[in-house]
Amino acid sequence: MSNVLFIKANGLPAESSVSVTLYETFLESYKKNHPADQVTELNLFEADLPYYDGVMMSGLHKEVAGEPLSADEKRLADIANGYLDQFLKADKVVMAFPLWNFSIPAQFLTYLFYLNQAGKTFKYTPEGPVGLVGDKKVALLNARGGIYSDGPMESYEMSLNYVKNILNHFGITDVETVVVEGHNAAPDQAQTIIEAGRKEAELLAAKF
Ligand SMILES: Cc1cc2nc3c(=O)[nH]c(=O)nc-3n(C[C@H](O)[C@H](O)[C@H](O)COP(=O)(O)O)c2cc1C
Repeated sequence: MSNVLFIKANGLPAESSVSVTLYETFLESYKKNHPADQVTELNLFEADLPYYDGVMMSGLHKEVAGEPLSADEKRLADIANGYLDQFLKADKVVMAFPLWNFSIPAQFLTYLFYLNQAGKTFKYTPEGPVGLVGDKKVALLNARGGIYSDGPMESYEMSLNYVKNILNHFGITDVETVVVEGHNAAPDQAQTIIEAGRKEAELLAAKF
């Protein structure tokens, strides 16, 4: 039995969101095909995700150094570590997110900051950082209105590439992706483009 964490980084309902459509399609197909697995859902738009600020940073730092924490530092360090522990316990992780302003929603960025902790998800070595959680399997479900997979906007794509680089930094190389793109750029083809992505998510979930 696998422990699977489903992360949704969009607060819209599926009718108004391609990434949430992919998320729900994947979730339904996953549950159908892996009925014994333990599934946990995390909606980042409903979660308590305080900014990664100076108090949180000093709390996390003091914890590692074994120094006493103020009440505020402890509260914020506990929040970050709660999300990190949940991520570490998962055998498989599914992340659904849109491209916004070439990047990812702030909620998702904050969440990824919580996960980036030296000694937990990666470590520093003389040869550079080394990932520590390479045994995880991850599926990334990404929606973007324009075309970024090739052409003039390719280098502006900092949503999927960013998340992939973070996972690589953690040592995670078993990463599958479903990308829906160009549905805003070509509205007359939007339905066909989205349906192809939905089908891809359904098939990937069955074998994930
Ligand atoms: C705040 C915001 C910023 C966006 N920025 C971009 C952008 O930079 N490039 C682009 O191609 N589409 C952009 N879009 C369009 C989204 O990528 C597109 O609507 C995609 O389907 C979003 O995923 P969703 O349907 O799950 O919300 C933006 C949409 C929003 C709401």
